[in-house]
Amino acid sequence: MNCPRDWPEPIVRVQSLSDSGISEIPERYVKPPTDRPISLSSSSQSDVNIPIIDLQGLFDNESKSFSGLKSSLIYEQISEACRNWGFFQVVNHGVPPELMDQAREVWQEFFHQPVEMKQCYANSPKTYEGYGSRLGVEKGAILDWSDYYFLHYLPCSFKDHKKWPALPVSLREVIEEYSKQVVNFGGRLMKVLSANLGLSEDYLENAFGGEDNIGACLRVNFYPKCPQPDLTLGLSPHSDPGGLTFLLPDQHVAGLQVRHNGHWITVKPASHAFIVNIGDQVQILSNAIYKSVEHRVVVNSAEERVSLAYFYNPRGDLMIQPAKELVTPQNPPLYPARTFNEYRLYIRTKGPQGKSQLGESQKSSTS
Ligand code: OGA
Ligand code: NI
Repeated sequence: MNCPRDWPEPIVRVQSLSDSGISEIPERYVKPPTDRPISLSSSSQSDVNIPIIDLQGLFDNESKSFSGLKSSLIYEQISEACRNWGFFQVVNHGVPPELMDQAREVWQEFFHQPVEMKQCYANSPKTYEGYGSRLGVEKGAILDWSDYYFLHYLPCSFKDHKKWPALPVSLREVIEEYSKQVVNFGGRLMKVLSANLGLSEDYLENAFGGEDNIGACLRVNFYPKCPQPDLTLGLSPHSDPGGLTFLLPDQHVAGLQVRHNGHWITVKPASHAFIVNIGDQVQILSNAIYKSVEHRVVVNSAEERVSLAYFYNPRGDLMIQPAKELVTPQNPPLYPARTFNEYRLYIRTKGPQGKSQLGESQKSSTS
């Protein structure tokens, strides 16, 4: 099975719509009443935040002042966050704060170029690489209020700088370094998750294909100002299909909401934190000890928003299935073995649809 070569309808850039100064959004962005940001079927909670974990010293083996006790405390906090939330923020993760700012800035600059400059990178559903404005190829689908840019970093054979924007001039260099650092951090965190699951440290990374073969790709989301933010969403509810996601959110504008105990929790980003979340492949490998969690993005009329989602994924052609070590007569395997390539086609064809790709109905996750 393959994705079609072309989109079912002409692509409209949401940024152009927003810039045109319309006061009402076109019908194809208007969600049915139950799916809107504020609806009777889902309440929001504003006084709760996802856990924030300080990783200071965790990866710093040389540090004499860092006791094993403190390290085990951090492992414990991560374990708890993975089990109970599937979503947490990390600070003091080792990726330089200036690099995070630069990475966000080059993409802001990219999106603020004239539309003709960006059109050279227009993407197709075949690979999704490049400048895009929809996820899914179903004709007549109701669309989300966002544009994005999608690119590959790993495996090396997928990386093609020509598919990364040439302008602003520093973009390729900054994103190359940013990618290296995020992937390095991702590998370290995978070790912590493996150990916390009672597996060997390298288990998850090996299951993903090993250091040089994992998939790492970046999706930069651009959410333009929206004249009727109560009628639409920047990104519809979904769980991330891959392994782990490292999100660099907008430092000033909130918008990401996470589903927790039936409520939508608005994430309040800590300074220079990454938001980490469990993807479907880790749910499968851990046989649902860790669960991927639904999230969505709301937009607003006052400010645009930019976020960088780094996806740490298995190599596309490897079979992913529950770890044998975690399967017992009491805990039979909950998922069949599938390759990530096969798995990812669902969201690439249908667009964001809650957690239905894991066989979980959208209703059950609200309760
Ligand atoms: C994503 C995502 C959240 C955000 O790109 O998968 O969930 O805040 N992004 O943009
Ligand atoms: Ni996501």
